[in-house]
Amino acid sequence: MAANDALAERAGIGKGTRVADFCAGLGGPSRYFAHRYGADVTGIELTPARVKGAEELTRRVGLQDKVRVIEGNVMQVPLEAGSIDVVVSQEALLHVPDKQRALAEAYRILKPGGRIVFTDWVAHRPLSDADRELMWQGMAVTDLHDLPTYAGLVGRAGFVVDAVEDLTGEWGEILKVRLAMYRKLREETRAAGTPAGHDAFYESYVRFVDLVNEAVLGGGRFAGEKPA
Ligand SMILES: C[S@@+](CC[C@H](N)C(=O)[O-])C[C@H]1O[C@@H](n2cnc3c(N)ncnc32)[C@H](O)[C@@H]1O
Repeated sequence: MAANDALAERAGIGKGTRVADFCAGLGGPSRYFAHRYGADVTGIELTPARVKGAEELTRRVGLQDKVRVIEGNVMQVPLEAGSIDVVVSQEALLHVPDKQRALAEAYRILKPGGRIVFTDWVAHRPLSDADRELMWQGMAVTDLHDLPTYAGLVGRAGFVVDAVEDLTGEWGEILKVRLAMYRKLREETRAAGTPAGHDAFYESYVRFVDLVNEAVLGGGRFAGEKPA
């Protein structure tokens, strides 16, 4: 919730703000922006099972008039030019092979004066070939950039970049706690005689936590505006 509040504050999300949530997943952030801030949110999500899950969860909490997660690719967004006030994305563009194209799509659908605010993985230093392969196999991680390079992509899409925040230290602590929780859950499921989950994901996750704590990988929050 704190991560979503940070996005909402920097984007100026309020009642009736038309938000596009890039790579919306099951729609958790989308529903939060609608419930907490009164925004009207359209999530863009590539995976049909997630779109279906998002629809079910949104209906269960009665937010279907304010939130819709639609099937689509953020590199070719099925929304009209100038139809959106704010584009957000939470820790997801790491999966998108052509981030410049996704940023260009954000620019296209935003009205003049509209804002983009998102968090994503960054690589402070280049990954070894073995780590790059592990991240791809376990978590479908595509090309990563360092903070200045990534900010450059946002600027090249036409945005005036007004904030670049390094979240690496903050993430390192959160990830250690989350990994301890995963380990405990895996032990419990194994003890119960049920499959303990996807091994490639788990192995890449363990390495990811180390890489963030070594400040090889990390997180960034970027904010920018489409000139009026
Ligand atoms: C790590 S999840 C993040 C979900 C959500 N932002 C959240 O915080 O709960 C990443 C999501 O991005 C979606 N995704 C990956 N590539 C995409 C693309 N090109 N266009 C739209 N969604 C994409 C995946 O299907 C997945 O559901």
